[in-house]
Amino acid sequence: MSDQAGNAEDGFPTLIPNHVAVIMDGNGRWANARGNPRYMGHQAGAEVVRNIVEAAAQRGLSYLTLFAFSSENWRRPASEVNQLMNLFVDALEREVDELHRNNVRLRFIGSRGQFKIDLVRRIELAEKKTRNNDGLVLIIAASYGGRWDIVEGAKSLVRKATMGKLVADDINEASFAGELSLAGVPDPDLLIRTGGERRISNFLLWNLAYAEMWFSESLWPDFSPDEFDEALSYYRSRQRRYGHTGDQVA
Ligand code: FPP
Repeated sequence: MSDQAGNAEDGFPTLIPNHVAVIMDGNGRWANARGNPRYMGHQAGAEVVRNIVEAAAQRGLSYLTLFAFSSENWRRPASEVNQLMNLFVDALEREVDELHRNNVRLRFIGSRGQFKIDLVRRIELAEKKTRNNDGLVLIIAASYGGRWDIVEGAKSLVRKATMGKLVADDINEASFAGELSLAGVPDPDLLIRTGGERRISNFLLWNLAYAEMWFSESLWPDFSPDEFDEALSYYRSRQRRYGHTGDQVA
């Protein structure tokens, strides 16, 4: 963790967010505006992922979570879904060694049940290879939905209760959070969404409760480390109150 990263829950201004979450939107529009098929936007988007991961590590973030494919994205035309899945396989094949050399730990969250076995194996290999790295934790949300995550957490609690391992009063915010995909990971401090839309789109519904939000008109393939820095500056300007008054925090 960066020595510049603070624990924002103490109310003190933090210089660098500990955890940034990103909704990478606008690949399709970027490609269409150039008269190209949508998958070319996803390809260009993958290059930007590389630049932003590098920037996040250089700036000293501890966690970067990227929304790569939502539970709802399975509803897209099969051809686009296949192209995206192939892109994920290619990106893993191409990037994992370099991420490992740079001490990045890779984690995936989401339901893997619908992935082809080749992709599942590559995800498992990437997680295994990088699991002891203690630099940036790069979390890829793929086939992920915030509601799915909460429902899975509830199921897990019920299973434990059925086995007699807990009773209703054992359930509190901390124990519930411990059942979610990001158990043990501090909540995102900052959410960045590109592509001009201002919504959460079923991303980390539980975990974004207190996140600051930065919305950009840039389409994801146009998003740059400079704009990432602008988002980090905006974050620095925020006073995080967690229900307190401004005077209390000041
Ligand atoms: C949203 O843009 C983007 C996606 C559904 C895919 C995100 C994937 C990448 C950035 C590529 C690679 C990712 C990794 C982790 C290697 P959209 O298609 O909804 O764009 P639109 O709103 O313009 O249609």
